[in-house]
Amino acid sequence: MNPFQSIYETIGESQIKELVRYFYLEVEANPSLRKLYPENLEPAERKLFLFLLQVFGGPSTYSAERGHPRLRMRHFEWKIDSAMRDHWINAMLTSLDKLKLEQNVKELMMQYFIQVANHMINHE
Ligand code: HEM
Repeated sequence: MNPFQSIYETIGESQIKELVRYFYLEVEANPSLRKLYPENLEPAERKLFLFLLQVFGGPSTYSAERGHPRLRMRHFEWKIDSAMRDHWINAMLTSLDKLKLEQNVKELMMQYFIQVANHMINHE
């Protein structure tokens, strides 16, 4: 099993929900990120929540609603350079710090987010 798929069982749905809530508060507070998103952040928050539930080993509602994630392709419409990746990662790591997680699960999640965020870069 992919190690990331043990995360849901370890931390549960409520902490994934909290993480995503914190993340979008960070997005709201960061003009560089905020300008990429539509005015209403709720649908984006729900998509990220359902996506993370799925990749962390929980219910696959995300794919039932959205189909195959094809995450890199879905991000092509925004110019994501290393500075934008850093904004995203900082927002996520700040949010992660607000949860009270065991160090090993926190590190696993950091590893996941950093890996995927690097993969989203589509611009120099
Ligand atoms: C690296 C910098 C990144 C930027 C600037 C970025 C930005 C965005 C934006 C603007 C949206 C559109 C939200 C909406 O209107 O619905 C989006 C969607 C999404 N992002 Fe990112 N993102 C980044 C990285 C990531 C990473 C690392 C993940 C996963 C770990 C991720 C997961 C998602 C998901 C699941 C969606 C919804 C896709 C869909 O079903 O349409 N993003 N992102």
